[in-house]
Amino acid sequence: MNSTGQAIGRIDGHAKVTGAARYSAEQPLPRLAHAVLVPSTIASGRVVTVDSAAASAMPGVLLVMTHLSAPRLPAGGMAGAASPPAGRVLNLLQDDRVHYNNQPVALVVADTLEHAQAAAQNLRIAYKKETAQLDFERAKKNPYKPEKAKNEAADTRRGDIESGRRNAAAVVEAVYTTPMEHHNPMEPHATVAAWDGDRLTLYDSTQYVSGVRNTVAKTLGISPENVRVVCPYVGGGFGCKGSTWSHVVLAAMAARQLGQLVKLVLERPHMFGPVGHRPNTEQRIMLAASRDGKFTAMRHDVIASTSRMEDWLETAALTSRMLYACPNQQTSHRLARLDTGTPTFMRAPGEASGTFALESAVDELSYALQIDPIQLRLQNYAEQDPENGKPWSSKSLRECYRSGAERFGWSRRTPQPRSMRKGDMLVGMGMATATYPANRSAASASAAILPDGSAIVRSGSQDLGTGTYTIMTQIAADALGLPLERVKFELGDTDMPRAPVSGGSQSAASVAPAVKAAALAVRRKLVELALADGESPLSGLQAENVTVENGWLTAQADPRRREPFAAVIARHGGTALEASADAKPGEEKQQYAHHSFGAVFAEVHVDPELGVIRVERIVGSYGIGRLLNQKTGHSQLMGGIVWGVGMALMEKTEIDARYGHAVNGNLAEYHVPVNADIGSIDIIVVDEDDQHINSLGAKGIGEIGITGVAAAIANAVYHATGKRVRDLPVTLDKLL
Ligand code: MOS
Repeated sequence: MNSTGQAIGRIDGHAKVTGAARYSAEQPLPRLAHAVLVPSTIASGRVVTVDSAAASAMPGVLLVMTHLSAPRLPAGGMAGAASPPAGRVLNLLQDDRVHYNNQPVALVVADTLEHAQAAAQNLRIAYKKETAQLDFERAKKNPYKPEKAKNEAADTRRGDIESGRRNAAAVVEAVYTTPMEHHNPMEPHATVAAWDGDRLTLYDSTQYVSGVRNTVAKTLGISPENVRVVCPYVGGGFGCKGSTWSHVVLAAMAARQLGQLVKLVLERPHMFGPVGHRPNTEQRIMLAASRDGKFTAMRHDVIASTSRMEDWLETAALTSRMLYACPNQQTSHRLARLDTGTPTFMRAPGEASGTFALESAVDELSYALQIDPIQLRLQNYAEQDPENGKPWSSKSLRECYRSGAERFGWSRRTPQPRSMRKGDMLVGMGMATATYPANRSAASASAAILPDGSAIVRSGSQDLGTGTYTIMTQIAADALGLPLERVKFELGDTDMPRAPVSGGSQSAASVAPAVKAAALAVRRKLVELALADGESPLSGLQAENVTVENGWLTAQADPRRREPFAAVIARHGGTALEASADAKPGEEKQQYAHHSFGAVFAEVHVDPELGVIRVERIVGSYGIGRLLNQKTGHSQLMGGIVWGVGMALMEKTEIDARYGHAVNGNLAEYHVPVNADIGSIDIIVVDEDDQHINSLGAKGIGEIGITGVAAAIANAVYHATGKRVRDLPVTLDKLL
């Protein structure tokens, strides 16, 4: 009875709905002081004076920390800045500089949250304003080349695009733009800092407990052994919690100074600035093809915004390098500085924005050539990675196109724009390819069989609400030969074996092999113990002749010779058996190109008079290796698709051109889809088992769901209306 792959409900679901699950800000700790960030109100300049007399005298106020009073840190607070993704350039009150609106310029700590908030309101801060660049349209006129694009070169070139273009029957050239967007997980960033002498414990909402540990230790100039980071639950991460931001270190600084525990929870408006965002992009695409639809040349040039403090690149052209077989290609990435907070990873960073441009351009070409959009993509199907010639570790994209089209009813689509109607509504059908790298990193885990025959398995990973607890319990239970309810999986603590950042969709693919290996190792110990024990009914048998199932060891040849796990341990002093294991990718990481693929289909209904767009239904079909849990896996993909609808139709941060403030920096005005905005979502996971990624055959699924969705919707809007919108979000004013 294998549980892996089954649609098991969330192991942590009951704890979450009953409130038993403690999030970072909910740790029941004594003597907590409450900290509030005071954000800058200008985009660039200096803090001239801070009048804290009134604030300091208010009831319950324990500390007002500004750049004048904050403890000095090694390297001016920059010691941890050199190690992305975890380490970023932080704003730790080390000088008077203001680099963006909403930058922390003070921290107020009081006995209650209300006292801290009231005092923060009474801080008088005077600034000397300097000219700020807040307009991407202007900033992009001074682009510069970043050092690299993730682990690849910023620019690439293969073949000869000029001759490829000359020989083409059709050429599409267009500019696509995507706006600044901000992550808004339900749980905002939150940190509780507790010092015990030299030792710091952080209860922090993070995608990377060991990253927080290292960055905070470096920044404060203390040993990582003296920092413990605990994070059993995360109420959504999406990339913004992949790095350690200023508030985490500020909480630790305040707690050390006060000799008291300090809790710092970001308020919703603080989510718009100091903790990352998806930057603006302008993407220029040239796509040329022969009469039969074979791509002869492709060019994809990206300009993305970053901050004044740090280079962070939205790698939007990476997808174009690998998605289609095109002999002649050029790609480039450039950065343009804005006086905003630094951008960061936001669900499928690069792929979400890049596939909007590329997959829109492919759609445009399909009309120019009058070839069906799926057919055009099949004409250019990449049988291996076109950039380096490596074979795919697995690729089921043909089957994704086929199964998705069939489920969607693509054959009912009439190709002509504005040719389909339902009542008064214009009906549009569009599709796009989805893809995301299948990443994997080194990870470790431990497993223990306890005297009662149950097991505890641990890895210092994170569960962002994605189902990590559940799938790891399934894998451990299957490997141990125990029922699910007898296995407890724990994560989210730097005291546990080390695991990588829960980013880049890699936790399942990285941690699951370690969990499986640790579970198998401890089970092997148990079996060996029984076989070598004269008092065991299994004494003298060979391990391969023993079945381990449901908490029992049984002789295959004689089922009467059996005993439970607990009996073996009881005869051996009743102490738990333990094992640990490390798992990391081998040579296959270099030998193969690892990516997940999918196909997204969208049907939109557009009101021809008002331009109102409704996404009636989406079908997504994915090749993502072996699915470890049908229920949590589908939820992951569905969540990505829902976000894709938001990206397509709603999301955009409006920056005030004078002060750099996010004008819609709240959940009322920063629009994301709600239940009523979402029609039917139908998800297909095609049969795939990728033995080149890991022993479980599972590729990551956290981010592919959002990719391609915005293009599929924009393509459907074009099909419905005949209007091509190349600027996200596709709002109704752009259709009128
Ligand atoms: Mo993901 S944007 O790598 O958390």
